[in-house]
Amino acid sequence: MVENSNDTEEFSFSAFSNLPFYKQVNARLLDLADVGRQRRIIDLGCGTGGVTKLILERLQSAKETVIFAVDHSASALRDAVAELGGRKDAVIRFVQSPVQNLKTAINGDVDAVVYCNSIHYVPDKKTLLSQIREKLSPNGILAINTSFFDGSHPPESEEFYRRWLMRSLRILKREHGMSPDASQKVESRQHLTADEYESLLQDSGFRIVKSEVADIDVPESGWFHISGFKDWIEGVMPGVPLETGRLALQKGLRQVFEERELTTIPRRWLSISAARA
Ligand SMILES: C[S@@+](CC[C@H](N)C(=O)[O-])C[C@H]1O[C@@H](n2cnc3c(N)ncnc32)[C@H](O)[C@@H]1O
Repeated sequence: MVENSNDTEEFSFSAFSNLPFYKQVNARLLDLADVGRQRRIIDLGCGTGGVTKLILERLQSAKETVIFAVDHSASALRDAVAELGGRKDAVIRFVQSPVQNLKTAINGDVDAVVYCNSIHYVPDKKTLLSQIREKLSPNGILAINTSFFDGSHPPESEEFYRRWLMRSLRILKREHGMSPDASQKVESRQHLTADEYESLLQDSGFRIVKSEVADIDVPESGWFHISGFKDWIEGVMPGVPLETGRLALQKGLRQVFEERELTTIPRRWLSISAARA
Protein backbone atom coordinates (compact mmCIF):
# COMPACT_ATOMS: atom_id res chain seq x y z
CA MET A 1 0.00 0.00 0.00
CA VAL A 2 1.41 3.40 -0.91
CA GLU A 3 -0.03 6.58 0.48
CA ASN A 4 0.92 9.63 -1.47
CA SER A 5 -0.96 12.34 0.34
CA ASN A 6 0.07 14.10 3.53
CA ASP A 7 -3.38 13.99 5.03
CA THR A 8 -2.73 11.04 7.30
CA GLU A 9 0.47 12.43 8.86
CA GLU A 10 -1.33 14.28 11.62
CA PHE A 11 -3.01 10.98 12.54
CA SER A 12 0.31 9.25 13.01
CA PHE A 13 1.54 6.97 15.79
CA SER A 14 4.32 9.37 16.69
CA ALA A 15 2.81 11.10 19.76
CA PHE A 16 1.83 7.76 21.29
CA SER A 17 5.16 6.11 20.58
CA ASN A 18 7.04 8.87 22.40
CA LEU A 19 5.12 8.41 25.67
CA PRO A 20 7.39 7.26 28.51
CA PHE A 21 5.25 4.22 29.43
CA TYR A 22 5.30 2.99 25.83
CA LYS A 23 9.06 3.47 25.53
CA GLN A 24 9.47 1.40 28.71
CA VAL A 25 7.37 -1.44 27.30
CA ASN A 26 9.53 -1.56 24.17
CA ALA A 27 12.80 -1.07 26.04
CA ARG A 28 11.86 -4.13 28.11
CA LEU A 29 11.39 -6.16 24.93
CA LEU A 30 14.80 -5.02 23.64
CA ASP A 31 16.26 -6.13 26.98
CA LEU A 32 14.63 -9.57 26.68
CA ALA A 33 16.24 -10.06 23.28
CA ASP A 34 19.50 -8.37 24.22
CA VAL A 35 19.17 -6.08 21.22
CA GLY A 36 22.14 -3.80 20.68
CA ARG A 37 25.01 -6.21 20.24
CA GLN A 38 23.92 -7.30 16.72
CA ARG A 39 25.27 -5.83 13.48
CA ARG A 40 22.29 -6.14 11.16
CA ILE A 41 18.87 -5.46 12.68
CA ILE A 42 15.40 -5.20 11.15
CA ASP A 43 12.83 -2.97 12.85
CA LEU A 44 9.72 -4.52 11.33
CA GLY A 45 6.56 -2.40 11.20
CA CYS A 46 8.77 0.49 12.37
CA GLY A 47 6.01 3.11 12.05
CA THR A 48 7.29 6.59 12.84
CA GLY A 49 10.59 5.28 14.19
CA GLY A 50 10.00 5.28 17.95
CA VAL A 51 11.50 1.83 18.39
CA THR A 52 14.24 2.50 15.83
CA LYS A 53 15.35 5.32 18.13
CA LEU A 54 15.41 2.98 21.13
CA ILE A 55 17.51 0.47 19.18
CA LEU A 56 19.96 3.24 18.20
CA GLU A 57 20.38 4.23 21.84
CA ARG A 58 21.63 0.80 22.81
CA LEU A 59 23.91 -0.09 19.91
CA GLN A 60 27.30 -1.26 21.07
CA SER A 61 28.94 -0.28 17.83
CA ALA A 62 26.78 2.12 15.86
CA LYS A 63 29.40 2.51 13.11
CA GLU A 64 29.26 -1.17 12.23
CA THR A 65 25.50 -1.57 12.48
CA VAL A 66 22.81 -1.38 9.85
CA ILE A 67 19.16 -0.99 10.87
CA PHE A 68 16.52 -1.74 8.27
CA ALA A 69 13.35 0.16 9.23
CA VAL A 70 10.46 -1.45 7.35
CA ASP A 71 6.85 -0.29 7.12
CA HIS A 72 4.22 -0.24 4.39
CA SER A 73 3.01 3.23 5.29
CA ALA A 74 4.67 6.03 3.32
CA SER A 75 3.45 8.66 5.77
CA ALA A 76 4.81 6.78 8.80
CA LEU A 77 8.17 6.38 7.06
CA ARG A 78 8.23 10.10 6.19
CA ASP A 79 7.88 10.88 9.90
CA ALA A 80 10.61 8.35 10.71
CA VAL A 81 12.98 9.85 8.12
CA ALA A 82 12.28 13.37 9.41
CA GLU A 83 13.16 12.23 12.93
CA LEU A 84 16.12 9.96 12.20
CA GLY A 85 17.22 10.52 8.61
CA GLY A 86 19.94 12.98 9.64
CA ARG A 87 21.66 10.59 12.04
CA LYS A 88 25.26 10.15 10.95
CA ASP A 89 26.29 7.76 13.71
CA ALA A 90 24.61 4.67 12.26
CA VAL A 91 23.25 3.47 8.96
CA ILE A 92 19.46 3.33 8.85
CA ARG A 93 17.85 2.08 5.68
CA PHE A 94 14.17 2.97 5.41
CA VAL A 95 12.27 0.40 3.38
CA GLN A 96 8.67 0.85 2.28
CA SER A 97 7.21 -2.61 2.01
CA PRO A 98 4.50 -4.84 3.40
CA VAL A 99 6.06 -7.09 6.02
CA GLN A 100 4.72 -10.00 3.96
CA ASN A 101 7.35 -9.14 1.29
CA LEU A 102 10.25 -9.26 3.72
CA LYS A 103 12.05 -11.93 1.73
CA THR A 104 12.57 -9.65 -1.27
CA ALA A 105 12.49 -6.29 0.51
CA ILE A 106 15.86 -6.82 2.23
CA ASN A 107 18.93 -8.49 0.80
CA GLY A 108 20.93 -10.91 2.88
CA ASP A 109 20.34 -12.15 6.38
CA VAL A 110 20.20 -10.26 9.67
CA ASP A 111 21.07 -10.94 13.31
CA ALA A 112 17.88 -9.63 14.88
CA VAL A 113 14.31 -8.79 13.94
CA VAL A 114 12.42 -6.47 16.27
CA TYR A 115 8.69 -6.45 15.68
CA CYS A 116 6.83 -4.12 18.04
CA ASN A 117 3.09 -3.81 18.33
CA SER A 118 2.41 -4.77 14.78
CA ILE A 119 2.17 -8.57 14.40
CA HIS A 120 -1.57 -8.49 15.24
CA TYR A 121 -2.17 -6.70 11.91
CA VAL A 122 -1.09 -9.75 9.91
CA PRO A 123 -3.67 -12.50 9.29
CA ASP A 124 -1.25 -15.18 8.09
CA LYS A 125 1.28 -15.08 10.91
CA LYS A 126 2.67 -18.54 10.18
CA THR A 127 3.88 -17.63 6.69
CA LEU A 128 5.33 -14.37 7.97
CA LEU A 129 7.19 -16.06 10.83
CA SER A 130 8.67 -18.55 8.38
CA GLN A 131 9.92 -15.66 6.26
CA ILE A 132 11.40 -13.96 9.31
CA ARG A 133 13.15 -17.20 10.22
CA GLU A 134 14.64 -17.41 6.73
CA LYS A 135 15.98 -13.85 7.10
CA LEU A 136 17.72 -14.61 10.39
CA SER A 137 21.29 -15.83 10.59
CA PRO A 138 21.88 -18.99 12.66
CA ASN A 139 21.16 -18.08 16.31
CA GLY A 140 19.52 -14.87 15.10
CA ILE A 141 16.92 -13.44 17.47
CA LEU A 142 13.32 -12.33 16.98
CA ALA A 143 11.69 -9.97 19.48
CA ILE A 144 7.91 -9.51 19.34
CA ASN A 145 5.47 -7.63 21.51
CA THR A 146 1.78 -6.88 21.27
CA SER A 147 -1.08 -5.59 23.41
CA PHE A 148 -3.63 -7.08 21.02
CA PHE A 149 -3.77 -10.69 22.09
CA ASP A 150 -6.36 -12.86 23.79
CA GLY A 151 -5.78 -11.83 27.41
CA SER A 152 -4.62 -8.25 26.84
CA HIS A 153 -7.75 -6.70 28.40
CA PRO A 154 -7.91 -7.33 32.16
CA PRO A 155 -11.58 -7.91 33.13
CA GLU A 156 -11.60 -4.77 35.27
CA SER A 157 -10.85 -2.66 32.20
CA GLU A 158 -13.86 -3.83 30.15
CA GLU A 159 -16.21 -1.34 31.78
CA PHE A 160 -13.93 1.52 30.75
CA TYR A 161 -13.94 0.48 27.08
CA ARG A 162 -17.74 0.15 27.11
CA ARG A 163 -18.28 3.56 28.67
CA TRP A 164 -15.67 5.24 26.48
CA LEU A 165 -17.22 3.85 23.30
CA MET A 166 -20.78 4.67 24.31
CA ARG A 167 -19.85 8.20 25.31
CA SER A 168 -17.84 8.84 22.12
CA LEU A 169 -20.62 7.52 19.90
CA ARG A 170 -23.11 9.78 21.65
CA ILE A 171 -20.83 12.79 21.10
CA LEU A 172 -20.36 11.77 17.47
CA LYS A 173 -24.12 11.66 16.96
CA ARG A 174 -25.09 14.76 18.93
CA GLU A 175 -22.27 17.09 18.00
CA HIS A 176 -21.40 15.89 14.52
CA GLY A 177 -24.61 14.22 13.35
CA MET A 178 -22.76 11.06 12.41
CA SER A 179 -22.57 7.35 13.15
CA PRO A 180 -19.92 4.81 12.16
CA ASP A 181 -20.57 2.94 8.94
CA ALA A 182 -20.55 -0.76 9.81
CA SER A 183 -20.05 -1.70 6.13
CA GLN A 184 -16.61 -0.05 6.27
CA LYS A 185 -15.52 -1.94 9.36
CA VAL A 186 -11.95 -3.18 9.07
CA GLU A 187 -11.77 -6.96 9.12
CA SER A 188 -11.61 -7.95 12.76
CA ARG A 189 -8.24 -9.31 13.76
CA GLN A 190 -7.83 -12.75 15.17
CA HIS A 191 -6.35 -12.46 18.64
CA LEU A 192 -4.13 -15.36 19.68
CA THR A 193 -3.42 -16.29 23.28
CA ALA A 194 0.14 -16.06 24.64
CA ASP A 195 0.37 -19.87 24.45
CA GLU A 196 -0.78 -19.84 20.83
CA TYR A 197 1.91 -17.28 19.97
CA GLU A 198 4.53 -19.48 21.58
CA SER A 199 3.31 -22.61 19.76
CA LEU A 200 3.19 -20.74 16.48
CA LEU A 201 6.78 -19.62 16.94
CA GLN A 202 7.91 -23.13 17.81
CA ASP A 203 6.04 -24.56 14.81
CA SER A 204 7.79 -21.97 12.64
CA GLY A 205 11.27 -23.07 13.68
CA PHE A 206 11.98 -20.87 16.71
CA ARG A 207 13.09 -21.66 20.23
CA ILE A 208 11.42 -19.48 22.89
CA VAL A 209 14.10 -17.67 24.89
CA LYS A 210 11.84 -15.58 27.10
CA SER A 211 8.14 -14.94 27.18
CA GLU A 212 6.30 -12.68 29.59
CA VAL A 213 3.02 -10.91 30.05
CA ALA A 214 3.34 -7.58 31.84
CA ASP A 215 0.61 -5.55 33.52
CA ILE A 216 0.93 -2.00 32.30
CA ASP A 217 -0.95 0.99 33.70
CA VAL A 218 -1.75 3.06 30.63
CA PRO A 219 -2.16 6.74 31.56
CA GLU A 220 -4.84 8.99 30.13
CA SER A 221 -2.27 10.48 27.74
CA GLY A 222 -1.89 7.01 26.19
CA TRP A 223 -5.59 6.70 25.42
CA PHE A 224 -5.68 10.35 24.32
CA HIS A 225 -2.89 9.95 21.77
CA ILE A 226 -4.03 6.55 20.51
CA SER A 227 -7.35 8.28 19.74
CA GLY A 228 -5.42 10.38 17.24
CA PHE A 229 -3.92 7.39 15.44
CA LYS A 230 -5.48 6.58 12.09
CA ASP A 231 -5.64 2.79 12.59
CA TRP A 232 -7.34 3.17 15.98
CA ILE A 233 -9.94 5.67 14.73
CA GLU A 234 -10.72 3.51 11.70
CA GLY A 235 -11.04 0.44 13.91
CA VAL A 236 -13.42 2.04 16.40
CA MET A 237 -15.29 4.42 14.13
CA PRO A 238 -15.27 3.00 10.60
CA GLY A 239 -16.28 5.42 7.86
CA VAL A 240 -16.03 8.48 10.14
CA PRO A 241 -13.68 11.28 8.95
CA LEU A 242 -10.46 10.96 10.96
CA GLU A 243 -10.60 14.43 12.49
CA THR A 244 -14.22 13.99 13.61
CA GLY A 245 -13.47 10.54 15.02
CA ARG A 246 -10.46 11.86 16.89
CA LEU A 247 -12.43 14.73 18.45
CA ALA A 248 -15.29 12.46 19.56
CA LEU A 249 -12.97 9.82 21.03
CA GLN A 250 -10.83 12.35 22.88
CA LYS A 251 -13.81 14.24 24.29
CA GLY A 252 -15.50 10.99 25.36
CA LEU A 253 -12.26 9.86 26.99
CA ARG A 254 -11.85 13.09 28.99
CA GLN A 255 -15.41 12.84 30.27
CA VAL A 256 -15.12 9.20 31.34
CA PHE A 257 -11.76 9.79 33.06
CA GLU A 258 -13.14 12.82 34.91
CA GLU A 259 -16.43 11.27 35.96
CA ARG A 260 -14.87 8.03 37.18
CA GLU A 261 -11.83 9.84 38.62
CA LEU A 262 -9.55 7.53 36.72
CA THR A 263 -5.82 8.00 36.41
CA THR A 264 -4.77 4.88 34.47
CA ILE A 265 -6.36 1.83 32.80
CA PRO A 266 -4.58 -1.52 32.99
CA ARG A 267 -3.55 -3.34 29.82
CA ARG A 268 -1.39 -6.42 29.36
CA TRP A 269 1.55 -6.60 27.01
CA LEU A 270 2.93 -9.85 25.68
CA SER A 271 6.67 -9.85 24.95
CA ILE A 272 8.53 -12.80 23.47
CA SER A 273 12.13 -13.25 22.41
CA ALA A 274 12.80 -16.32 20.29
CA ALA A 275 15.95 -17.63 18.67
CA ARG A 276 16.18 -19.31 15.28
CA ALA A 277 16.24 -23.01 16.22
C1 LIG B 1 1.04 0.38 16.10
S1 LIG B 1 2.22 0.83 14.89
C2 LIG B 1 3.75 0.37 15.68
C3 LIG B 1 4.92 1.12 15.13
C4 LIG B 1 6.26 0.83 15.83
N1 LIG B 1 6.65 -0.52 15.73
C5 LIG B 1 6.20 1.27 17.28
O1 LIG B 1 5.97 0.43 18.14
O2 LIG B 1 6.38 2.45 17.55
C6 LIG B 1 2.02 -0.45 13.70
C7 LIG B 1 2.77 -0.20 12.41
O3 LIG B 1 2.70 -1.39 11.61
C8 LIG B 1 2.54 -1.01 10.26
N2 LIG B 1 1.96 -2.14 9.54
C9 LIG B 1 0.77 -2.73 9.75
N3 LIG B 1 0.58 -3.74 8.89
C10 LIG B 1 1.69 -3.80 8.11
C11 LIG B 1 2.08 -4.61 7.02
N4 LIG B 1 1.31 -5.61 6.60
N5 LIG B 1 3.27 -4.37 6.44
C12 LIG B 1 4.07 -3.35 6.88
N6 LIG B 1 3.74 -2.54 7.90
C13 LIG B 1 2.57 -2.77 8.51
C14 LIG B 1 1.65 0.22 10.31
O4 LIG B 1 1.80 1.00 9.14
C15 LIG B 1 2.18 0.92 11.56
O5 LIG B 1 3.20 1.84 11.24
